Amino acid sequence: MHDVLVLGGGVAGLSAAVRAARTGCSVVVVTKDVLGASATQYAQGGVAAVLEDDVDSPDLHLDDTLVAGAGLCDRAAVRILVHEGPDRIRELVALGAHFDRVADADAYALTREGGHSVARILHAGGDATGAEVERALVAGVRATAAELRERWFALDVIVEEGRAVGVLVEDDDGTRQEIRAHHTIIATGGAGQCFAVTTNPTLSTGDGTAMALRAGVAVADVEFMQFHPTALHHPSMPRPLLSEALRGEGAVLRDEHGLAFMTDEHPLADLAPRDIVARAIARRLVERNLDHLWLDATAIPGFSTRFPTITKAVGSIGLDPSKDWLPCAPAAHYVSGGVCTDLDGATTLPGLWACGEAANSGVHGANRLASNSLLDGLVFGSRIVEAIERGKSAPEATGVLGDLLAGDALPLGHAPAPEAPLDTTGSTSRDALQQVMTRFAGVLRDAESLRSALKGLLAMRPGSEEDRNLRDVSLALVRAALAREESRGTHTRLDFPETSLAFLGRFFFTGASEPVFAPLHEVAPTR
Ligand code: SIN
Repeated sequence: MHDVLVLGGGVAGLSAAVRAARTGCSVVVVTKDVLGASATQYAQGGVAAVLEDDVDSPDLHLDDTLVAGAGLCDRAAVRILVHEGPDRIRELVALGAHFDRVADADAYALTREGGHSVARILHAGGDATGAEVERALVAGVRATAAELRERWFALDVIVEEGRAVGVLVEDDDGTRQEIRAHHTIIATGGAGQCFAVTTNPTLSTGDGTAMALRAGVAVADVEFMQFHPTALHHPSMPRPLLSEALRGEGAVLRDEHGLAFMTDEHPLADLAPRDIVARAIARRLVERNLDHLWLDATAIPGFSTRFPTITKAVGSIGLDPSKDWLPCAPAAHYVSGGVCTDLDGATTLPGLWACGEAANSGVHGANRLASNSLLDGLVFGSRIVEAIERGKSAPEATGVLGDLLAGDALPLGHAPAPEAPLDTTGSTSRDALQQVMTRFAGVLRDAESLRSALKGLLAMRPGSEEDRNLRDVSLALVRAALAREESRGTHTRLDFPETSLAFLGRFFFTGASEPVFAPLHEVAPTR
């Protein structure tokens, strides 16, 4: 029996694993690909954090996060994120991560992205921040005694006497076995593969979220799939990102006539929060029957030095960003919701914890602020270990769990009966699922399109465990999106275009197939 079992090898899981191993816990890390292959490595823009607060402050970072989150952030969770984040970055630097610095000055080079009122985003290797964070953490975990199980796939949580005691896995030989642990941490990342057009790698199949759904562990806010406004319009998968930092450094979105349209959409123009930019693009694509618009980054000086990853990606299709406008369109990018946690990462099932994109601590609300995700993983991955060290054994009514457990508590469902083993006869392809989700549950939705998505999903027979996870997460996303009859954050209902106070709360899945709504127990004011 291990002390700590970590599922996932991205920033959140490895932050937890390194910390736990350093405290002397016996740790095992399970990754379904090789260590280092996680979605973290694709993050370009950077990590938002206030390390020096002469013009900036954690409270300003908090305000920007709450505004982006469109009323659904948990203020206490965001406060923790912005105040503990800087120390976690300093620890990452001590572990060996290098962030870009201003030439000839003793300061980090900072950039801006959508929704940030000042430049506060650290970056590494120009636009290779995630790769550097992942490199440092992989080296960090390899330097500990943590056991690494690469290419092992976690199938389901093992629950005994109301407690998670590990997971059932398929090992690298395809043999099923149990890994038992006192504490199991879900850090399995996102579910961008639910959609045909995504910035996420093929491994982002919502595994931890699906496991939680099947075990009756509370999951919420999954209708808030964030679409990155500017993925390169090109058939390669995952879609190469054209980082928001490009707009932070002066790039401008243009329509098919060359018009810079974001000035008509929001006071922050091209630096409006991501949901607003994605919606502005998606509307134009639909109304004008187009498949892409343009990002004009020709005014950025020294492009290839500042953005080497993007230079390489667009160069491979013959584009020179100093001369050519770059074709772009929205792509599924980040699930703001996920497995519900309290402020220490505890889920509704004792012994089971969650952090990173798979989790929903309340820091992202209805729309994650750009470059808050690496920070989220660093902060909440570490908090889980601190809570385990303190001997915490049950979830508290804080963070997102405050909305579920406080006040008029909603009944927590019982774990559904385990599903029958997968029968792959006559199975549906992943491509079919992605096409249904992209066509009917993308940036712009309405009841009719969502009902079509639901019907399509219910008729599908997944052909692999990963596809079963994608179907389970897609079903939850579509059911919550149907129930949320308003537009808020990244969830745009064409038939309910306004934001409604009646929906100031979360749709929770607690074991039944339909979600239950719980209003926020504490409303975080936005400016
Ligand atoms: C980007 O570089 O535009 C992505 C940043 C993020 O998703 O936080």
